[in-house]
Amino acid sequence: MSSVIDGKAVAAAVLEECRAETAELKAKGITPGLAVVLVGDDPASHVYVSSKVKTCGELGLHSRKIVLPAATTQEELLAVVRELNADPAIHGILVQSPPPKHINEEEVVRALDPRKDVDGFHPENVAKLALEDPTGFVPCTPAGCMRLLAAAGVKTAGAEAVVIGRSMIVGKPMALLLMAKGSDATVTVAHSRSKDLPGICRRADIIVAAVGRPEMVKADWVKEGAVVIDVGINRVDDPSSKKGYRLVGDVAYDEVAPKCSAITPVPGGVGPMTIALLIKNTLQAARQLG
Ligand SMILES: NC(=O)c1ccc[n+]([C@@H]2O[C@H](COP(=O)([O-])OP(=O)(O)OC[C@H]3O[C@@H](n4cnc5c(N)ncnc54)[C@H](OP(=O)(O)O)[C@@H]3O)[C@@H](O)[C@H]2O)c1
Repeated sequence: MSSVIDGKAVAAAVLEECRAETAELKAKGITPGLAVVLVGDDPASHVYVSSKVKTCGELGLHSRKIVLPAATTQEELLAVVRELNADPAIHGILVQSPPPKHINEEEVVRALDPRKDVDGFHPENVAKLALEDPTGFVPCTPAGCMRLLAAAGVKTAGAEAVVIGRSMIVGKPMALLLMAKGSDATVTVAHSRSKDLPGICRRADIIVAAVGRPEMVKADWVKEGAVVIDVGINRVDDPSSKKGYRLVGDVAYDEVAPKCSAITPVPGGVGPMTIALLIKNTLQAARQLG
């Protein structure tokens, strides 16, 4: 019988910690500030950005939402980043992904002051994660996955962990976090060129799926009693739903869940954690910048 890891409840607990930390910082005269920059009119990005700004407001953080037209040039966007780098009221800066195609996202990330890079994508923070330097920022989604494992009481030390996906946003940092001292898992990273993915997954005590393929991980890929963290968010057509689609993860939940000791649902698993860890990172930036 599997236990369902409730991401909404764990995220709410993290946000309560953030509320208390925000009050402590404010008592010291520091109001933590997050700037979110959005280029273009992607509707999903607008929803994400609004919810980040709303959460800041609810917890007492200062926030700035900067919406730029889709035709914004690279130079104009870099100028906004530089202005935010220099703004003492702003401790965290996030440029919502994906930007329009003409924007070189890597150059934008490199232009961020790494001390304000609360997404943890700047090379300096990538290096700090590899070096296990706690002053760096850990990307929010994998950091959220680690919190979910901890909240579910999963022992990672000595566990065989398989991370499916090697993106800079999820897979790679997830693998580094699982293998870091203190977590101490034995980690395998699988990707589109991996051979016998089902066989690799069957070895795992912990599977983290970050692929972007609806319900790819099947029941016969999963060892009895394994823990499964499903990062995937995929839209599949569903004429019976009002919206015409529903969200599913990278894991075939209905068939996999009965084999697991614990599993995250989609939605309501990893998703709510990302924003909570973004706020956590902004508070870390505010503490470190003073
Ligand atoms: N919950 C959240 O807040 C959150 C945050 C971020 C992302 N996500 C979701 O997580 C998923 C992954 O996101 P991402 O940004 O990491 O995606 P990504 O950059 O597209 O990376 C996907 C990874 O999956 C691998 N892959 C693709 N097809 C595969 C296959 N058939 N077998 C094995 N590996 C395969 C790719 O391998 P190669 O490297 O060989 O191409 C790549 O490493 C998406 O559904 C995304 O929406 C959720």
